[in-house]
Amino acid sequence: MPAPLDCSFEDYLNKPREEQRRHLERDNLPFHVLTADQFDRDQIEAIADLATSLRSFVKKHPQGREEIHRLLIGRRVMMYFVQPSSRTFLSFEAAAQMVGAGTSDVRDTATSSEVKGETLEDSIRTFSSYFDAIVIRYPKANFADRCALMLNSTNRAVPVLSGGSGPDEHPTQGLLDIYTLQGHWDRYGGIDGRNICMLGDLKRGRTVRSLCRLLSLYEDMSLSFVSPEGFEMGSDIKKLLDERNVKWSEYRHIDEVIESADAFYLTRVQDEWGASFDDSVKDSVRMTPERLSKAKASAAIMHPLPRRDELPACPEIDIKDHRCLHWRQERNGMWIRAALLLVVMGVAIPRRERGRLVGFDWR
Ligand code: NCD
Repeated sequence: MPAPLDCSFEDYLNKPREEQRRHLERDNLPFHVLTADQFDRDQIEAIADLATSLRSFVKKHPQGREEIHRLLIGRRVMMYFVQPSSRTFLSFEAAAQMVGAGTSDVRDTATSSEVKGETLEDSIRTFSSYFDAIVIRYPKANFADRCALMLNSTNRAVPVLSGGSGPDEHPTQGLLDIYTLQGHWDRYGGIDGRNICMLGDLKRGRTVRSLCRLLSLYEDMSLSFVSPEGFEMGSDIKKLLDERNVKWSEYRHIDEVIESADAFYLTRVQDEWGASFDDSVKDSVRMTPERLSKAKASAAIMHPLPRRDELPACPEIDIKDHRCLHWRQERNGMWIRAALLLVVMGVAIPRRERGRLVGFDWR
């Protein structure tokens, strides 16, 4: 079981990454999924391989769907999503059901005992009495972490997975994004050495923050941040990139990098947190069919969705261009989340070579 906390939660947040991992892992494997920073590259690749192996098994074997449905039969996953969500909610739910787990959800605190004054911690502890894993999307950063660490000290420590944590982190989105990039560049030498461009509201976009943390584990990476003034990537992420020798640079307009970047990760303005983009800057963080024609032949165009006008809905972008991966990201999310559920529930058996994780077996 992950180690119970021996200090205050605030002190935990200041611990170095390696020490934090003791509270998030069981047998050196993810038990809780709370931050992109808890993963090492071997784990990311093993989870991605597991997702691929589930997917190809279902495709190739006539009984594939029935077989993977046996994996988590009898288990239950609680979905506590009190912030709007379509993709993350549905893909987690579809993933859980695909591998046989039942699901229940609370999507509005008005329907749970919180309206009677129950603390959130008590609500989570209640979920752990009935469910074998809890997925949480919550508007405040670190809420899911707090719940996970509280459960570590009880006799029903069930895995807690973040489905989005305030404007800070979205670790499972980061993993599906890496998985999508890896698949796209499979035949072109992989992710190492690439220049990844992130555009839009980088200050409050949790997807890009988690993706930066994961990309920092790859070799010889460079990141290009394109954002309007006031919406730049946070200094905490820039500091982390500096510590890990990842080159980064900032721009104001997509045209400055359209020919040089290997990937364009577009994001919408996160105006649920306040300020929005001025109309005059919207075009500077927008992909268009015309710009697409200038991008590299091997480029990856991505978006976590939902989109506004930064990625226009048109056949050139949605159907005709194999470089536009936003719909593939959506589908990949389901397979990655199914793989994660198998790992955190201890159903995927780690394969190690000389102590190093090289994959998972599940059959
Ligand atoms: C993102 C989110 O909720 O952070 N969506 C998602 O989970 N795919 C991105 C967003 O809302 O802009």
